[in-house]
Amino acid sequence: MKTVLVTGASGFLGWNFCKLARKNWQLSDVRISGTYYTHALDIKGVDMIRLDLTDERSIREIFETVRPNAVVHTAAVSSPNFCQTHPDLSYAVNVTASVTLATICCDRSIPFIFTSSEQVFDGERSPYTETDAVCPINLYGEHKAIAEREILQRYPIATVCRMPLMFGCVPPTASSFIQPFLSAMRDGRELKLFVDEFRTPVSGETAAKGLLIALDTGMSILHLGGRERISRYEFGLLLKEVFQLERARIEPCRQADVKMAAPRPRDVALDSSKAYALGYNPPSLKTALLEIRGKV
Ligand SMILES: NC(=O)c1ccc[n+]([C@@H]2O[C@H](COP(=O)([O-])OP(=O)(O)OC[C@H]3O[C@@H](n4cnc5c(N)ncnc54)[C@H](OP(=O)(O)O)[C@@H]3O)[C@@H](O)[C@H]2O)c1
Repeated sequence: MKTVLVTGASGFLGWNFCKLARKNWQLSDVRISGTYYTHALDIKGVDMIRLDLTDERSIREIFETVRPNAVVHTAAVSSPNFCQTHPDLSYAVNVTASVTLATICCDRSIPFIFTSSEQVFDGERSPYTETDAVCPINLYGEHKAIAEREILQRYPIATVCRMPLMFGCVPPTASSFIQPFLSAMRDGRELKLFVDEFRTPVSGETAAKGLLIALDTGMSILHLGGRERISRYEFGLLLKEVFQLERARIEPCRQADVKMAAPRPRDVALDSSKAYALGYNPPSLKTALLEIRGKV
């Protein structure tokens, strides 16, 4: 029996990945071990273990306990604003721990998937392909870019998946960007959304399908963006329409109107044609939202 270790299973993407893997894999053939850090969570069919990525001994121990045949690394300090104000923690988790995991996977010759971000780019020359040079404008993106480089230097057959903005169903321990949107819209509170910030979002389930493809195909760098480039404002209007939220009050605003700790790239749309050619097939945003309506 094979064992796949999923770090960050209590987080948004790790949880979506575990749910999809549990559906797709025969549990008699593959055991799924998932990690949490501060949010203990039960996921049916997944063995959950606590892991502190800032503690190298804890990382090494988990390999001895779980003896994985592959690692999908979704754990991260994932908020750009938090990373900007906590640079040491961001570096420890997003760079040091990720490189340690990759090095151990290299020593054991097992597949390693690292989840990076669209924010390794500056947002001025989209859409970005896998061969474009990275040029981050905030610490989160900078740390992801350093991790990507060091991981691939140490373990050239590791896979770096650059994830886009993601939305969808969440466990009680995590969130995605639409949950606060929905809460404001349902309450009839004003929601100001950027008209000048563009992304190529996908649902957590679609992203998880992309990670499965990455695990199967073993590409070096793979963009897992959606097919539609959309602003937050346009996304909000689509959400209002699909979820039939009559009370929603969406107002346009610009990035420059809101002061945040981390600079925000303007347009980090990903060109994901390489993944599409491998069978990654994100549905339209409308279809993806219809699929999660009533579940979020
Ligand atoms: N969400 C997006 O839109 C988006 C966009 C682009 C890229 N990404 C990338 O995609 C991946 C998944 O993101 P996500 O949204 O699922 O993140 P998330 O919901 O914030 O989950 C983060 C996970 O990391 C774990 N974690 C945090 N600090 C840890 C530590 N010191 N030791 C061990 N585990 C720790 C958390 O555990 P606890 O909660 O149990 O503490 C949680 O399971 C990340 O690499 C992120 O950078 C996300």
